[in-house]
Amino acid sequence: MKLKEKMQWLTSRNTGILATNFYNLETLHGELKAARELGQPLILQLTSSSIDYMGLGTAVNAVRSGLEEYGVEGWLHLDHGGSVEIVQACLDAGFDSVMIDGSELPFEENIRITKEVVKRAASYHANVEAELGYVAKLGQSVTHTGFTQVAEAKTFVEETGVDALAVAIGTSHGFYKEEPALQFDLLADIHAHIDAVLVLHGSSGVPEVQLRKAISLGICKVNLATEIKNIFMKTLQTILRDTQEIDLRKVFPQATESVTLLVKEKLLVMQNN
Ligand code: 13P
Repeated sequence: MKLKEKMQWLTSRNTGILATNFYNLETLHGELKAARELGQPLILQLTSSSIDYMGLGTAVNAVRSGLEEYGVEGWLHLDHGGSVEIVQACLDAGFDSVMIDGSELPFEENIRITKEVVKRAASYHANVEAELGYVAKLGQSVTHTGFTQVAEAKTFVEETGVDALAVAIGTSHGFYKEEPALQFDLLADIHAHIDAVLVLHGSSGVPEVQLRKAISLGICKVNLATEIKNIFMKTLQTILRDTQEIDLRKVFPQATESVTLLVKEKLLVMQNN
């Protein structure tokens, strides 16, 4: 099933789908193992810095063969595409879904660039995600807020024809200094007024109860990155403090397993609302 149809179907059932960023073969396989063990679908996503790190072709092939080997229903998505050029490269490389992130551009410019991507993605039958509002990126101010406005979101979706919309409802990327308080009334209002599938960025550190409520009020795609990097590296750091082992094949699997455990926990949150 195409990702767009899958997410529309999930939205109609108040069910979420987890979108996990991956950085190497270990994090990818840890995530796939979690999805296989729970029999859940999964979106695997790459930012342009992860594409630079892994190599576009290598990453695409690793996802395609990984999905097959693990028997997981999954899709490959470009996270935070910053230009039409990177989106085009990913479409050509066979991505199922692309994000064009024009959220820091003026509204009209965000519409223009998103429309261009929607046009290009059409012939690839690829899903397109855009973002409206301010979801702080790593290193950006979290005190500044710029929640998605319902009227703007409606105009944006109607004018661009975008499939999925990342909304700013109180999350930010990275860990939180204080517990976030998601704007549920705003979310419900956005969901009632626009057709696009809704996406929550910055899910690391959002309490489970808030994630569940967000899904019940219309969020479908739930993006998770920081917690994955964190658990992988923290596990490695702990192991390496106590061993001189140089065979990475004996060390990395424990870090991979910690990713599996984390992703399983999050996958369970997608289901039970
Ligand atoms: P976190 O890093 O906060 O989990 O956010 C992930 C994300 O939104 C990727 O687009």
